Amino acid sequence: MTEPDLDHHRSGDAVTEELRADVVAGLTAEQKWLPPKWFYDAEGSELFEKITQLPEYYPTRSEREVLAAHAGDVAELTGAHTLVELGSGSSEKTRLLLDALTKHGTLAAFVPLDVSESALVDAARSISADYPGLEVRGVVGDFTQHLDLLPGDGPRVVAFLGGTIGNFLPAERATFLRSVREVLDEGEWLLLGTDLVKDAETLERAYDDAAGVTAEFDMNVLRVLNARLGANFDLDEFEHVSHWDAEHEWVEMRLRARRELTVGIPGADLTVRFAAGEHIRTEISAKFRPGGVEAELAAAGFALDQWWTDSQQRFGVSLARSVRG
Ligand code: AVJ
Repeated sequence: MTEPDLDHHRSGDAVTEELRADVVAGLTAEQKWLPPKWFYDAEGSELFEKITQLPEYYPTRSEREVLAAHAGDVAELTGAHTLVELGSGSSEKTRLLLDALTKHGTLAAFVPLDVSESALVDAARSISADYPGLEVRGVVGDFTQHLDLLPGDGPRVVAFLGGTIGNFLPAERATFLRSVREVLDEGEWLLLGTDLVKDAETLERAYDDAAGVTAEFDMNVLRVLNARLGANFDLDEFEHVSHWDAEHEWVEMRLRARRELTVGIPGADLTVRFAAGEHIRTEISAKFRPGGVEAELAAAGFALDQWWTDSQQRFGVSLARSVRG
C-alpha cells in the first residue's frame, strides 16, 4: 500500500507549547474553558467517529443526505481541480464529493488538513487506494494557522463540513472566514456545512447520547492534559453536561466538577481549583439560520451561490464563491 504524502506544520514540541498556553489561558479564566481542538488525539478522533454513528447525533447523517443529493451540482458548478478539506477527520462524507468530481473529470488533487495525524494518515491512505490517479496531499495542521500553506491548482473548492465552523465564537468565525477568503483567488469556492437552529431537546440530546459516547469524548480532553502535561485530573470527579444556550444559539459542552477539587498540571506550572459544581466549557457548537449564514459569508467576501438542506431541514450546506473584497 502506498504511504500518504503528508506536510507537517505541527511539531510535537510546538504542539505541547500551544497546549500549555491554551491551558494557562483557559483554566485561569473566570469562566474556565478549553479549546475543542484538544479533543482530537488518536483516541478522541476515534470517539468522534463513534459519535457520528449515534442515533442522537443527526448532523452527520443530515449533511450526508445533502451531499449525496448535490455533490454532482458542486462538481458542475465549480469544475474544481483541487478539493481542500479543512478539519477533514476521516473524510468519509467527502467521498461523495470525490466521486462526483472524479466523474466530472476535472479533479486532480485532494488536500485534507487536520490536527489529528492519525485520522489524516488513515483517510489519506484509504482515499489514495480508492482513487487511483488522484494526488492526495495531507496536511497536518490547524485550520486557524496554516491556510496559507495549502498546495493545489485552481479552481479550488475549500470544504469545511460537519458544522465545525460552529466551534468558533462569532468573532473568531468572522476572522476565520476572512482568512479562507484571503487564500482563495476570486471566483474560487467555499463549501460550508452548518447545523441549523432547532428544538432544545434534539440539540441537547445530540451532545449527550444515551450510550455515553459524547461524555467519553468530552472527558478525553482531560486525558490529553494528563498525558501531555502530567496533570492529575480524575475523570470520575467530573460529569459531562450538554446545554443549549438559546440566547447565543449554541450548544455548550461542559465538564462539571462534582465536588470541590484541586488539580495539579505540572507541565503548565499550574494548580487549578474548582468549586463544587464549577465547570470547564470544552466546546461551543453554534447553530445557524439561513439568513445568518448568507450574511456572514457576505461580510467575509463570499457570495452565496447555492443553499441546500436535508429533507428535515436540520442541516444546511452552502456553496459560496469568493468575490472581490
Ligand atoms: C465535529 C465540531 C462538528 O460540534 O457537532 C460532536 C464535534 N462535539 N459531539 C460538533 C462534537 C460533540 C462536532 N464537530
